[in-house]
Amino acid sequence: MKLAVLLSGRGSNFAAIHEAIADRRLDAQIATVISNRADAAGLARAKDCGYDAHAIPHRDYPTRAAHEEEVLRVLALHEPDYIVLAGYMRLLSPTFVAAYPNRILNIHPSLLPSFPGVDAQAQALRHGVKISGCTVHLVDENLDAGPILVQRAVPVVDGDTVESLSARILDQEHEAYVEALQKLKSKT
Ligand code: GAR
Repeated sequence: MKLAVLLSGRGSNFAAIHEAIADRRLDAQIATVISNRADAAGLARAKDCGYDAHAIPHRDYPTRAAHEEEVLRVLALHEPDYIVLAGYMRLLSPTFVAAYPNRILNIHPSLLPSFPGVDAQAQALRHGVKISGCTVHLVDENLDAGPILVQRAVPVVDGDTVESLSARILDQEHEAYVEALQKLKSKT
């Protein structure tokens, strides 16, 4: 199972997937890692791990479509089975999604369909929910939507801050992403 990882930042979900492959908990390979930010820590980490890794900064392109076209061009060179969005903070156009129907995965730090979009953990705290978590789902043309593959719940505790809740959710994200990929692998 050939994966292409798209990320924008820290890259801890990418690292969790990399470690699961290295430990043979996940039978897959990461064919390429692409970031829309040249300074993403996750991109540096991918290079350190020896992966084919590209910065394709969206700011270098006149339009969203032009940027996506370049990302799609690089992806196509690697013929991935699945595109793994790991903290990729760009909304994908319907054209992009149509290029890989039911083959793009995303992870989101809430129990979707609650709290899509940015600052999901802050949204959860604002609403006062007592349980939050993370969701791994297949991507459709809507924001943070599409068939759910795995969810993990965590409690929201008194005194939680965005930081403390995010950290509790992130621990579960790392396991949930590997579990979702294991599920897809078992179907191939
Ligand atoms: C994760 O919490 C992920 O769920 C979130 O960004 C973070 C990336 O962390 N994604 C979204 O909010 C997407 N809507 P990472 O760079 O350490 O994997």
